Amino acid sequence: MQNVASPGLSAKERVLIDQEVTSHEGRPGALLGILEAVQAANAHKYLSMDALRYIADKTGTPPARVYSAASFFALFNLFPQGDNTICVCRGTACHTRGSRDLLEKVCLDLGLGSQDLESTSEADKLALTTSDQKFTVRTVACFGQCALAPVVEINHHILSHVNERTLQREVGALTRGR
Ligand code: FES
Repeated sequence: MQNVASPGLSAKERVLIDQEVTSHEGRPGALLGILEAVQAANAHKYLSMDALRYIADKTGTPPARVYSAASFFALFNLFPQGDNTICVCRGTACHTRGSRDLLEKVCLDLGLGSQDLESTSEADKLALTTSDQKFTVRTVACFGQCALAPVVEINHHILSHVNERTLQREVGALTRGR
């Protein structure tokens, strides 16, 4: 299992995992359901290595399999997420309509690493979080709404035909509440 941040499990987290393991027992897709519930209950919406190990232990699943599931699905996060999530689509339709410029602009405005951006291509997944943990900027391969390109999702709200001005306005409103 990859060694990533794992601040340790509290008694409350252990109880939650115990409950989720019990309630999902014998159900199809139990592991994914447990991972989803545990992540949803985490204040920073992520699955720590300690949580994954404990889930593996409680479900009798090999730790590598638990980690594979958590790292394969885009739904799951292995690092703490910001209070606000900005997800920029990097699929072909959005890319041809300027999603890379949108991504660069929002990262620049939030002071997020340009070095990480320089090395990314259309296909790469990206997840950067501001040092104050207020914003996470992520990319997605396609929202399945290509006719609305370029598409950006802010806090689970889809914005269509986004341009730099509308993105700046939306992010600015969230930044003022920072
Ligand atoms: S490529 Fe962006 S929604 Fe499909």
